[in-house]
Amino acid sequence: MKTQKSMKIIVVGLGYIGLPTASMLATKGLHVVGVDVNSTAVGTINQGNIHIVEPDLDILVKSAVHSGNLRASTEVEEGDVFILAVPTPFQDGGQGGEKIPDLSFVETATKNIAPFVRSGNLIILESTSPVGTTEKVRDIILANRSDLTAADFFVAHCPERVLPGHIIRELVDNDRIIGGIDRRSAEKAKELYKTFCNGSIYLTDSRTAELAKLVENSYRDVNIAFANELSLICDKLGVNVWELIELANKHPRVNILQPGPGVGGHCIAVDPWFIVAAAPEESKLIATARMVNDGKPLWVIDKVKEKAARFKEPVIGCLGLAFKANIDDLRESPAMAITRKMIKMQVGRVMACEPNINGNNFDEFPLYGLQDVIRQADIVLVLVDHDEFKDIDSELFKEKVVIDTRGLWT
Ligand SMILES: NC(=O)c1ccc[n+]([C@@H]2O[C@H](COP(=O)([O-])OP(=O)(O)OC[C@H]3O[C@@H](n4cnc5c(N)ncnc54)[C@H](O)[C@@H]3O)[C@@H](O)[C@H]2O)c1
Repeated sequence: MKTQKSMKIIVVGLGYIGLPTASMLATKGLHVVGVDVNSTAVGTINQGNIHIVEPDLDILVKSAVHSGNLRASTEVEEGDVFILAVPTPFQDGGQGGEKIPDLSFVETATKNIAPFVRSGNLIILESTSPVGTTEKVRDIILANRSDLTAADFFVAHCPERVLPGHIIRELVDNDRIIGGIDRRSAEKAKELYKTFCNGSIYLTDSRTAELAKLVENSYRDVNIAFANELSLICDKLGVNVWELIELANKHPRVNILQPGPGVGGHCIAVDPWFIVAAAPEESKLIATARMVNDGKPLWVIDKVKEKAARFKEPVIGCLGLAFKANIDDLRESPAMAITRKMIKMQVGRVMACEPNINGNNFDEFPLYGLQDVIRQADIVLVLVDHDEFKDIDSELFKEKVVIDTRGLWT
């Protein structure tokens, strides 16, 4: 077998997960080819730059590209290891409003690598996936390669747990689960991840690894749903939810999470549906939590409408669009959904401020500077707890209606 350093790794999908992983492996001395269908991203990366916002990723990519160990391409080529880091979104499809997984990106990426797989290769699925997807990857390769048998190549699932905004540190420090299609596949994947992962690496089978990732995010979703439900109860009963949670959490065995305008991102808001789709009768709590969290943006909009009724021509300042603090990621963002819907419903004149997005790169609706929004808004709606919003002088809001979905100023 080749030494790790002489191995060639093909990383398919150069987004928030694939690009940091590819760059990390390259800076550890492995030869990495990153493949993406987005030719603009490929061009940007080959110049040593990045097309997404993530702290310290620019330094890592620059160093990986300049070392000669990382090259980006729109075409797949032969290698020793293939890492699939393509999206696994959801789509509508459930009869009761439930979502179902969209595996088309994984299927296409697997078909694309199939002609290049050689005997002894390792294929790693990093994308968060429904139970059974790693086996599906193996089956797609076999269906496209009559010259190979299942014993000729290795397949493992290595789910990613990184937190956007801290991806580079967590990529190195987090513990990882690796599930092999067989034990040897898991062990081979572990050898690779050991080149940059300082956390513990736990081996299991691929189905357990797939479900573990989904369960981690469902656990978070269910607990956030509890906090979001409390925020509705408190509003009805005239109780400050932030104070309530702080006090309840003084109990030695209680740790309630914080409510917000909903749940966003392409992990927590998505992954629980992969469990519900596979076992609908058995996952009632998980499905209900999803509904509670998805219902919160509508509740926030109703609150704004209620307050806006007092003004003749209300100006609504929306602070933040990203799905969480200090990032630019708008995927499944409740802040974005709320802002978009308020514009559509013409609740008033909506002025949105997102300090992590350059208005020149965003054309859905105009973005405004923080000072402009604060000066002009009748209603200030805090949707994201970005650092920029934390230190605003509360004197500036004295005359305004504040709806603070993040508890930033309460
Ligand atoms: N971003 C996170 O914080 C995070 C955390 C844990 C798990 N994940 C999971 O990791 C996976 C990837 O997520 P991401 O955030 O990196 O997505 P992303 O959208 O940022 O990146 C995916 C990339 O794949 C590319 N792509 C799509 N189809 C392709 C194909 N056939 N060939 C080559 N490239 C292709 C896209 O152009 C894009 O650049 C998802 O399953 C996600 O759920 C993400």
